[in-house]
Amino acid sequence: MSFNVRVLSADRFADRVAMVLKERTDEPGQRLCLPTGSTPKPVYATYAAGGGDLTGTTVFLLDEFGLTPGGPARCDAMLDADLLARLAAPPARLVTWDTTTPDLTAECGRMEEEIAEGGLDLALLGIGMNGHIGMNEPGSPVDSRSRVVDLHPATVEGAARYGADEAPAWGVTLGIGTLLESRSIWLLVTGSAKAEILAKALKGPETPQVPASFLRRHGDITVWADEEAASQL
Ligand code: GLP
Repeated sequence: MSFNVRVLSADRFADRVAMVLKERTDEPGQRLCLPTGSTPKPVYATYAAGGGDLTGTTVFLLDEFGLTPGGPARCDAMLDADLLARLAAPPARLVTWDTTTPDLTAECGRMEEEIAEGGLDLALLGIGMNGHIGMNEPGSPVDSRSRVVDLHPATVEGAARYGADEAPAWGVTLGIGTLLESRSIWLLVTGSAKAEILAKALKGPETPQVPASFLRRHGDITVWADEEAASQL
């Protein structure tokens, strides 16, 4: 499968991606999966400052840490702080994960059902330093569905960087199979630290050891990379 790689200078990255995201969300009825973390932060800030409007859009949160609700490192808290709280109005609908339920398997099933109702028009993703997408850690099968996952040590460290005061051992995530059913996928990658893993994902073998390598199976994927992240392509 082919994929588009759009390489942008670091200083234009947020503006450009926010602009195309705004074009997309100006179309009513969009169903979007959104990630959290450091990569989308500047895009979200620019999108919100530029009048981004999700009032016609249903938003699904990509993944969630098994952390006590309310803490700053929770993905729902990050999405709120980085994007939703900056908008003039909330999205038409926001679908997040209840990690406090005793039946997490049922919760993941609910997420699959909600997505299946109309599919995802666009999944925005980041990539972890170990090649994960969402919380699909190395070893995740290409046909994986939404589920509870054990976190890789690097992902647990990531949670600490996001301000977690406890170390999450697990998370819930849309599966790779779930994400590959989205009509379009955009992978956002910035910074030199991600150059090696991005090259592996796009040019190395397709393998569960680098979950992002499976994105190449999708027919409509755009990789938005800044020059540093694209330096090994
Ligand atoms: C985190 C999240 C992913 C995110 C990735 C990269 O652990 N689970 O959804 O895309 O790792 O994060 P960052 O953008 O902070 O490098």
